Amino acid sequence: MSAPAIDTAAQPILSARGLVKSFGGFKAVDGVDLDVAPGSIHALIGPNGAGKSTLFGLLTRFHTLSAGKITLDGHDISHTKPAEVVRLGMVRSFQISAIFPHLTALENVRVALQRRHGFDRQFWKPVASLRALDAEAMSLLEAVGLQDLRDHVAVNLSYGRKRALEIATTLALDPKVMLLDEPMAGMAAADVAVVAELILKVRKGRTVLMVEHNLGVVEDLCDRVTVLARGRVLAEGGFDEVRADPVVKEAYIGASDDD
Ligand SMILES: Nc1ncnc2c1ncn2[C@@H]1O[C@H](COP(=O)(O)OP(=O)(O)OP(=O)(O)O)[C@@H](O)[C@H]1O
Ligand SMILES: [Mg+2]
Repeated sequence: MSAPAIDTAAQPILSARGLVKSFGGFKAVDGVDLDVAPGSIHALIGPNGAGKSTLFGLLTRFHTLSAGKITLDGHDISHTKPAEVVRLGMVRSFQISAIFPHLTALENVRVALQRRHGFDRQFWKPVASLRALDAEAMSLLEAVGLQDLRDHVAVNLSYGRKRALEIATTLALDPKVMLLDEPMAGMAAADVAVVAELILKVRKGRTVLMVEHNLGVVEDLCDRVTVLARGRVLAEGGFDEVRADPVVKEAYIGASDDD
């Protein structure tokens, strides 16, 4: 599949400068710069403990910054509250949009939609709004291929379908930027292919930043790759460029020796 041309010279939709996160004396993120081009699928890769999830936590303001600056779509969000970051259009999947196991697929998406309407403060006509919400929820279920399972309780869905439902609940918040932390983790190959297709489908009009250990997925989906190791950016570029980088190879081999 051919990736669409991404204008990396365009103003980044998400930009980080000099990000640091210290836990006690230990710097889990140690001076990271990152520019994510609008409309791109950008991968964040690196060995275990490199600081990828901590960096996501900084970007979504789940963690406070020890130093640095984050800009989202022109807004300085370095000290913004997490809920405000969501309102500004950046949502981390599998965090805010956790699934309620004993609600149906449709109910889960409806709850997420109500949350968004709550942010907008427009959700004041419950009865009239409910039908509209159901229609919107159904179209989101269709977008992720779960329309026939609308009345199934989430806990009974297969692993891949739970992930699809999580993506639907994230889409319900209508994010400009979606952060996906290991969307394929623990998945069988068949499910990986389904979720990869899904990410390609939902990227339209959005930007995706994803942590992913499956390098085949990164190669297929991502326009740009940033490699982290020991809290620092080791390399950045297209997949082939990064894969050929001896420093990157060394970091991966070095890390597996440590394990
Ligand atoms: N709350 C915390 N307190 C102390 N140390 C932490 C905390 N969170 C993360 N760390 C440490 O920071 C480093 C980076 O962790 P992080 O989870 O960001 O790595 P990662 O790149 O996401 O790894 P993985 O690929 O295993 O998910 C690790 O050494 C981890 O032990
Ligand atoms: Mg992690």
